[in-house]
Amino acid sequence: MYSLRGYAAMTADPIRLDAHTRALAATVRPGCVVADIGAGTGIMSLLACRLGARRVFAIEPDDAIEVAREMARVSGYSDRIEFFPSLSTRVDLPERADVVVADLRGVLPWHGQHLPAIMDARDRLLAPGGRLIPTTDVVWAAPVSAPAEYVKQAALIDGVAGFDWAPLRSRTVNTWTSCRLGPEALIASPRVWQTIHYAQLTHPNAAGTLEFQATRAGAAHGWLVWFDATLVDGIGFSNAPSAPATIYGSAFLPWMQPIEVEPGDTIRVQLEAWLVGNDYVWRWDTEVRDGAGTTKALLQQSSLQGLSLSAARLRHRSLDHQPALSEEGEIDRTALSLMQGAATVAEIGDELLRRFPRYFPDLRAARNRACDLSHKYAR
Ligand SMILES: C[S@@+](CC[C@H](N)C(=O)[O-])C[C@H]1O[C@@H](n2cnc3c(N)ncnc32)[C@H](O)[C@@H]1O
Repeated sequence: MYSLRGYAAMTADPIRLDAHTRALAATVRPGCVVADIGAGTGIMSLLACRLGARRVFAIEPDDAIEVAREMARVSGYSDRIEFFPSLSTRVDLPERADVVVADLRGVLPWHGQHLPAIMDARDRLLAPGGRLIPTTDVVWAAPVSAPAEYVKQAALIDGVAGFDWAPLRSRTVNTWTSCRLGPEALIASPRVWQTIHYAQLTHPNAAGTLEFQATRAGAAHGWLVWFDATLVDGIGFSNAPSAPATIYGSAFLPWMQPIEVEPGDTIRVQLEAWLVGNDYVWRWDTEVRDGAGTTKALLQQSSLQGLSLSAARLRHRSLDHQPALSEEGEIDRTALSLMQGAATVAEIGDELLRRFPRYFPDLRAARNRACDLSHKYAR
């Protein structure tokens, strides 16, 4: 979920905007059909219209699509842009698109349902011989020395108020975040971890091992991962440390503790991203060996260890658990059973209060629950 300010910031990012503007100019021909997957507040759809697209499908489940609708109106493109307030994977288009444009990335391409959505759009929504934007993401990794970032992201809690914060620290060091580091942070030459060719992509996961030789001495703090995107041949952008800053930032995967490295040390990572449900589980296992081959550090880390999961949550998700409805469930079931097209939202709220008087503090709270469920499930 992005805020509207977030949409404004990504729309206004000059590097991202310039690359997409040029990629659309290279692919959108007057009279063609464009599908804008993840239209947000509408920039790609508007650009496609300006380039002469005959018909644009703007697909976006977030309410930001209402801003895109208004943008189409005030820009004079309402007659050419059709809006689909839905996930692209649930949309059938009236005709296939000559150009599909989708920037669903987060800091990295492995972001929520991004990759399954692009594969689906490529296979179902793109016309044979059509153009898919982006075409390729090359993803790089390197070990970095980043003391300030490490404190901010992983070790902020160390020593606070004299307590041993191990239970919290063990989670923060297993959580990766977006940051901006310059090339001076690298302590080895970067290497390519993955290359995603969107035209051929068949699965959403990634795994690979990389080995680096430290080029300088210093305290190393984790891995930096970034991508070079090619939108269409010869046009792209990058969130590399050596490139100008973009809205994406790079991914910093901290180590459990800083490790002093010397030039010639070998630093190895097994880096994996597995889509589980709607999110990725990241795993980064690190080994540092000195010039003689002696292991200096062996770290096994995963974003799963960065979570704080209650026993109840784990039990509920266990496949052999036999669930029985909680009071929350009874409330939702009652409300849903009343959504047969005869009762109003207010009447459903009134009924909820009548049946669950101890749960709802007042009528307003019960009606709010009915409003929320109506928004989520009603036609
Ligand atoms: C990075 S934003 C890009 C927004 C807009 N294209 C722009 O350039 O400003 C990605 C958008 O994709 C939407 N999104 C994610 N998965 C989607 C899907 N499968 N179908 C349609 N929209 C999706 C998100 O809600 C979000 O608004």
